[in-house]
Amino acid sequence: MITKKQMQDLARKHGTPLFIVDHDEIRRNYAQFKKHLPRVQAYYAVKAEPMPEIVKTLYKAGASFDVASMPEFMIVHENIKGMQNKKRLDWIWDKIIYANPIKPIETLKELDQYRPLVTYDNLEEVKKIKKYAPHAGLCLRIRVPNTGAVVELSSKFGAAPGEAVDLILAAARMGLGVEGLSFHVGSQTTNFENFVQAINIAADIFKEANDRGYTRMNVLDIGGGFPAPYDSSVKPFEVLAKRINAELDRLFPKNIEILAEPGRFMIATAGTSVVRINGKTVRDGKTCYYVNDGVYHTYSGIIFDHQHCHLFPFRKGKKEEICGVFGPTCDALDVISMSENLPADLELGELLYSTNMGAYSHASSTWFNGFPPAKVVHINK
Ligand SMILES: Cc1ncc(COP(=O)(O)O)c(C=O)c1O
Repeated sequence: MITKKQMQDLARKHGTPLFIVDHDEIRRNYAQFKKHLPRVQAYYAVKAEPMPEIVKTLYKAGASFDVASMPEFMIVHENIKGMQNKKRLDWIWDKIIYANPIKPIETLKELDQYRPLVTYDNLEEVKKIKKYAPHAGLCLRIRVPNTGAVVELSSKFGAAPGEAVDLILAAARMGLGVEGLSFHVGSQTTNFENFVQAINIAADIFKEANDRGYTRMNVLDIGGGFPAPYDSSVKPFEVLAKRINAELDRLFPKNIEILAEPGRFMIATAGTSVVRINGKTVRDGKTCYYVNDGVYHTYSGIIFDHQHCHLFPFRKGKKEEICGVFGPTCDALDVISMSENLPADLELGELLYSTNMGAYSHASSTWFNGFPPAKVVHINK
C-alpha cells in the first residue's frame, strides 16, 4: 500500500492535482478475485479506468476484458496486435466480451472482422447484428434485481426474464449463435442477495431454453457489481464469493463457462488522489477549503456514482472540525464534501489526499472551466 511519505514525494516531484495508480494493488485485486472465485473468468470492465497501462498490467496477469466501445476494444487489442491471425482471433473470442447491449452500426461493421462475443437485449439489436456483424457470438443480457446497489443499472438494459427465451430463439432463427446469458446486479452491490437471485433467474432461463429445444448455451456472465471496500460496512469479498460459488455449483454444471465483469473491484483501491489547498475561508461559521481537484475531475464519482470521497490531511492540526471542501471550478455544484473532519488550521499550499479513488474517477474527468484532468503517475508497474 502506498505510504503518506510516497504520496508527498510524488506530489513534490509531479505537482498536484495528482492521481497515483499502484499496479501492485491491481495485481493483488486480480489475484484475490481469482483465488476466491476459482471457477470465474475475470473480464476487467475497462470503463472503470481505461488507461492503457492498467489494461497492460491486467493483460500480463492473465485477465480477460469487458469493453463497451470501439476505442475500449482497441486499447485491449493493442496488446495482441502482433499475434498471428488465428491465435489473435481465438484470444479475442476467449478473452473479450463487447458488453454494451446497444451498438452503433459503424461499430458492428468494424467489430465483425474480430468475431467477438457481444451482448444484446432486444430484437432490433438482433436484426442489426445479423446485418452488420453476422460473425459475432451473442450473449443475452437479462434484467435482474438491483436492490440496494449504489449504482442501479437495470432500468436501462436487460431483457425481462419472461421474454428471454423468445429472444434467444429469434436470434437462432436468424442463424446467429446465442452462447449464453449475462446480467448486472448494479454497481457497488453490498446486498449479496442480488447475485443469488440473478444466478437463480439465469438458471431458470437456461432450463426453459433447453426445454424449448435450444441446447447450445454454455456461458453465464455474472457481470460486475463486486463492491470495493470503501468503508467497514462492506462485507469481505470472501463472504460474497462463498455465496456465489455455492449457487453456481448448485445450479450450473461444470461444462458451463462462468464469466464476470468486475470493474470497480479491480481498480478502486489502486487509485489515490492528492490535492492542494488553494483557498480558505469561513462560511456560516464553517471552515471551507478550496482545493485544485473536484467533481468535474477526479471526484466525478460523487456526481455520477453517489460516491462519498473522504479527504485526509498529512499532518495533525491543533483541532479537528467539520469543514467544507470545494473543487476549483466556478460551479456551485463543485463540492467534494460539506462535512469532512479536518484540522481547521491547514494553510494554503498544504496537501490533502483521498484513497480508494481508482474507479470511475479519472475516467470521467473533464476539462471544465479550463482545468485539465489530474496528472497521472503509475507506481510499481
Ligand atoms: C455491462 C457492464 N459490465 C460491467 C460493469 C462494471 O461494473 P462494476 O464496476 O460495478 O464492477 C458495468 C458498469 O457499469 C457495466 O455496465
